[in-house]
Amino acid sequence: MSTTSADRTDRQAGDVGLLGEIERWRHAEPEALRLARLVTDEVRRTGRHHLADGLLGALDALHRRHRGRDAFLDAFLDAVLARRRDRFRNQTYLALPLVELVRADLGVDAEHMSALLMADVLRYERRSTQLDDRTRDTRVRHAAHFVAAVRPVLDLNWLPGDRADAVVEQWFGLTALPVSIEHDEYFFIRALQAHEMVFTTLTDELRAATQALRLGYLTTATARVRRAVDVFDRAAMLFRLVATMRPAAFHAFRQYTEGASAIQSEAYKRFELACGTPSAQRLFSEAFDNVPAVRAEAPGLDNFSRAWQDLCARGPAAAELTRAVEQLEAGHQRWKTTHYSLAAAMLGSAHGSGYTEGVPYLRRCLENWLFDLDAAAPGGEPCCQPGCSRVTCPVH
Ligand code: HEM
Repeated sequence: MSTTSADRTDRQAGDVGLLGEIERWRHAEPEALRLARLVTDEVRRTGRHHLADGLLGALDALHRRHRGRDAFLDAFLDAVLARRRDRFRNQTYLALPLVELVRADLGVDAEHMSALLMADVLRYERRSTQLDDRTRDTRVRHAAHFVAAVRPVLDLNWLPGDRADAVVEQWFGLTALPVSIEHDEYFFIRALQAHEMVFTTLTDELRAATQALRLGYLTTATARVRRAVDVFDRAAMLFRLVATMRPAAFHAFRQYTEGASAIQSEAYKRFELACGTPSAQRLFSEAFDNVPAVRAEAPGLDNFSRAWQDLCARGPAAAELTRAVEQLEAGHQRWKTTHYSLAAAMLGSAHGSGYTEGVPYLRRCLENWLFDLDAAAPGGEPCCQPGCSRVTCPVH
């Protein structure tokens, strides 16, 4: 996209106005929400990647003076200043610490939050004049299906940021901070944030199922795994939503997201650890190199597979629970296959923004499994599919 001299004049005028405001707060404590709204206006006008150096420098200095006084402002500025501070990653691209603060303040669980994020996509896309009618309608339909499936009673008139008196709703509106001015990046950010909420929900379910198994509550464990199956199935809708994006739109903002990748998603890797112990090959691959904090949690962590194996050692596994676990494993395989196809269509032979080879890395990931089931069924038949050596393979 070319920048005209009128654009440049506009941008400079925006910078100057904002710089003046920042100057006002040199000696006084900044009004956190007001500052964040002004910065967000500028981000939406230019893209985070194109914020002027002078502005970033002034914000950085202001943040160093005032860090620790307002957790929301800290999380917001950590996201805005991430590239400048060489901390641009999945967490800062998606402003996840700020999303979590807003979620805590709203008092909603992760699944509810995923519905609110998608309701925001509805709001954004319904107003859009940049998409052709067909793409807009498809996108709106997928977002609406997700919201209806997750929270059928959600009030779609709740528009984050619209009620001037509700501070937390205002902050909700400031959690999407695109790096570009490409229309599609906004909904892409929301889809990734919603996915993070999905993985958090899945981890909670699997941890609860493990605890229930340890206490011998098989019915509760089965119900928890079944819920995880439903949550995963609904996540497929988010991929359908992302698939409405044209590769050209994706590449228009991807050039600025280098270094941030969902391979750094701690929520996804925590979900893996909640299901089973990863193979040493997986644990010491780039998959976990990118989430050192989660890898450090792995030793000694209880997980569903272990609890299940202990249960099976005492007698045959309950058929309903086995079925639910098989469904979850199959759901994860489907999720990975869809992700692989989407990435292949969007990326082609380009490397990933997390510096893997890209699509070939994702192809290898198709061979990973969530649960180590083999030990749970020592007498099972080996899978009949060529290349699959698992005993009692739940997928083939
Ligand atoms: C345009 C769409 C997408 C493309 C092109 C894409 C591409 C990739 C690539 C190339 C990787 C490998 C790591 C890297 O080098 O960056 C990756 C990893 C990953 N992506 Fe995506 N992705 C897309 C959408 C999504 C969405 C919507 C999600 C939902 C959360 C997602 C979740 C993940 C996860 C969890 C990983 C880590 C996989 C692992 O380590 O096993 N991706 N993606």
